Amino acid sequence: MRKKNTMENSPCLFLVLFVTLSRFVAPSHGIMNQGEALDNLYKAKFSRDSSVDTSPFEVIDTNQFEVMNMLLDKSKVRPRREGSKERDRIKMLPGQPHVKFSQYGGYVTANESAGTAFYYYFVEADRHSKQSLPLLLWLNGGPGCSSLAYGAMQELGPFRVHSDGRTLYQNKYSWNKAANVLFVESPAGVGFSYSNATSNNYYTNGDRQTAAENYRFLVNWLERFPEYKNRDFYIAGESYAGHYVPQLAHNVLYHNKKANRTIVNLKGIMIGNAVINDETDNKGMYDFFGSHALISAENLRRIQHYCNFSNASISNECQAAMGKADTDVEDIDIYNIYGPLCFNGNLTSKPKKASLVDFDPCSDYYVYAYLNRPDVQEAMHANVTKLTYDWEPCGALNWADSSATVIPLLKEFMANGLRVWVFSGDTDGRVPVTSSQYSINKMNLPIKTEWNPWFFNQEVGGYVQVYKGDLTFATVRGAGHMVPSVQPVRALSLISHFLAGTPLPTSKPNPRA
Ligand SMILES: *[C@@H]1O[C@H](CO)[C@@H](O)[C@H](O)[C@H]1NC(C)=O
Ligand SMILES: *[C@@H]1O[C@H](CO)[C@@H](O)[C@H](O)[C@H]1NC(C)=O
Ligand SMILES: *[C@@H]1O[C@H](CO)[C@@H](O)[C@H](O)[C@H]1NC(C)=O
Ligand SMILES: *[C@@H]1O[C@H](CO)[C@@H](O)[C@H](O)[C@H]1NC(C)=O
Ligand SMILES: *[C@@H]1O[C@H](CO)[C@@H](O)[C@H](O)[C@H]1NC(C)=O
Ligand SMILES: *[C@@H]1O[C@H](CO)[C@@H](O)[C@H](O)[C@H]1NC(C)=O
Ligand SMILES: *[C@@H]1O[C@H](CO)[C@@H](O)[C@H](O)[C@H]1NC(C)=O
Repeated sequence: MRKKNTMENSPCLFLVLFVTLSRFVAPSHGIMNQGEALDNLYKAKFSRDSSVDTSPFEVIDTNQFEVMNMLLDKSKVRPRREGSKERDRIKMLPGQPHVKFSQYGGYVTANESAGTAFYYYFVEADRHSKQSLPLLLWLNGGPGCSSLAYGAMQELGPFRVHSDGRTLYQNKYSWNKAANVLFVESPAGVGFSYSNATSNNYYTNGDRQTAAENYRFLVNWLERFPEYKNRDFYIAGESYAGHYVPQLAHNVLYHNKKANRTIVNLKGIMIGNAVINDETDNKGMYDFFGSHALISAENLRRIQHYCNFSNASISNECQAAMGKADTDVEDIDIYNIYGPLCFNGNLTSKPKKASLVDFDPCSDYYVYAYLNRPDVQEAMHANVTKLTYDWEPCGALNWADSSATVIPLLKEFMANGLRVWVFSGDTDGRVPVTSSQYSINKMNLPIKTEWNPWFFNQEVGGYVQVYKGDLTFATVRGAGHMVPSVQPVRALSLISHFLAGTPLPTSKPNPRA
């Protein structure tokens, strides 16, 4: 286990709460999960002597000339040393069932001067119509968590790992039923992604550099997969990807405008249980605790009275009230408040009976074991530089900048005609539905279609409200922080409507249909 996180030493005045939270959620060999990584950032961000820069997000445009030359002067760039996609084809993952779609994996340069390469895993659509289906990039949060660990292997990817840590089973609700799906481990220090400029595996990054490198990765990836250059392109993600997704989208718009042409054909973004606006995210979290019988009405009133979430300096009364809330929620899975905990992450010699609709909370262990197998890494074209540490679901990164809000970016997308969807698993307590609602309320958008249930298979899949502009807010009923893990059927319906640009159905379907 790498120890490289100075954030742990920061005095924690805000969200004292989460220090002890993930006792049962986190695997016992000490690997960190997505929520803990977010807590680490919050601890650092809201400490009295915080060194995290929370000023508004801006594009780093240092490599503009390189990118422009590469795109404009075609003779100069081809063949690029990025290599061909055929070399990246994954013939077969160890232990996988037979499938018909193609898979690719490998490294794409994200920062040439620093020698930074991001690992990607790409699954083409599981349909004959892969040529017409869009390209979807999925990002997980942290900061520092892997889209391979969560997105690909536990949420929306085509396979899940059995409890033996060696074999895979198919996810029939995989999002590659609706799109060609690209997963990337970003930034360097996450999973298999690395930077040659970093010694001792002590990685420092931040929102701005991550966005710049994600953009560079994307442009280079499209050089390797040129048939996707003009394809409708969408970016989606959850949790701290509430920053990554809009910031990458902003970089795309910036470069398209600057070049006066469509370099990346971005059509929309979708973020779930997303970190959007610090003040409302935090207020919404305690209000959710209070309204879900996790803390007392009295303690909620104290928090509402004494805590000012737009003031980094926390009063003693506020700290005491948050401390009590901490104790009250520490023994449940705050990312899925009614969900089971993992008490035994040991692998089993024979796979346990797996169920797609009954998510196994010990899955982190199975994925950890699988992705650290040398035969798996070889088949995936991963770890080619022989990194000196293990693959982990979340790497501890030092985070230099994290803007206090991404609301201006969401407004920019709406003004530019991009599709913007915000979704929320309504049993997540960490970045809960109340937080997302308060953040959207901050935008002061006129309502187009007021709150309604949306349906899938005769059942209420969640609730939806559409704002003029155009922004859709949709909840997913009974889903936690990782929506496609806990509610895979509803999640596939959600992404299918988002990509097709069709409203979620708000009238109950005919039972005979
Ligand atoms: C990093 O260094 C290794 C070993 O020298 C080299 O093979 C690899 O291509 C470098 N990566 C990048 C992105 O420059
Ligand atoms: C590339 O990496 C260097 C060193 O980490 C960093 O200073 C620079 O900002 C990065 N470039 C971009 C465009 O992110
Ligand atoms: C941008 O491109 C359009 C046509 O593609 C052209 O009419 C316009 O003059 C260009 N603008 C600039 C500033 O180059
Ligand atoms: C909360 O803090 C902010 C800035 O630190 C301040 O402007 C605001 O007035 C405070 N709100 C209350 C209710 O005290
Ligand atoms: C922020 O909170 C601190 C401690 O509670 C208080 O002393 C200070 O006046 C507040 N600042 C503002 C601008 O409200
Ligand atoms: C898991 O495996 C370890 C080492 O083999 C063993 O000591 C431990 O008791 C096992 N845990 C459970 C809950 O079975
Ligand atoms: C990379 O490979 C080396 C040597 O095989 C192994 O020790 C290390 O754990 C691997 N690291 C990652 C990040 O996969």
